[in-house]
Amino acid sequence: MNNNTPEVLISEEAIQTRVLELAEQISADYDSADDLVMVGVLKGSFIFLADLARRLSIPRTIEFIAVSSYENGSVSSGAVRLLMDVRGNIEGKHVLIVEDIVDTGHTLKYLIGMMKSHRPASVRTAALVRKAESAEVDVDVDYLGFDIGDEWVVGYGLDYAEQNRTLPYIGVIKPTDT
Ligand code: PRP
Repeated sequence: MNNNTPEVLISEEAIQTRVLELAEQISADYDSADDLVMVGVLKGSFIFLADLARRLSIPRTIEFIAVSSYENGSVSSGAVRLLMDVRGNIEGKHVLIVEDIVDTGHTLKYLIGMMKSHRPASVRTAALVRKAESAEVDVDVDYLGFDIGDEWVVGYGLDYAEQNRTLPYIGVIKPTDT
């Protein structure tokens, strides 16, 4: 593990500005009467979800789902494993899946299919960052914070081996197992 302080890629201020923009866009796109359920993907989305949800001006409820694909390394296996499903009934509701990062796209693609199997009224996706160059599957991100290069990023919910999730900014580190 590299213990150096991660180099700032996206500042705290830039993140907060973008999160507010996304919240305003989401608030405008949904009607106040829509039954909006934000589904945060643990663990990485917990900070983005908290900030985004608190900036919406429309009613919303919160659910969490947990999946794992990376285990403790930095290389995606491509196989997504469901660790925890939503607790509430989302049938007939408008689902917004909230992710911290879309890398290969396997996780989000799997989650969209999973959510659709619950027969919601609609399924959309939000992600703070996306590594466009790493995409292995085609998946739509309806509300995207930032496109980034093929770097290992930490902070604002993102980790490397469980470290650095609570940094207020997104930083770059060099993983030691690649
Ligand atoms: C990360 C991230 C996404 C997924 C994206 O989760 O939170 O869920 O990888 O990768 P993909 O587009 O290649 O599928 P991770 O498995 O690291 O778990 P964590 O959120 O608990 O850190």
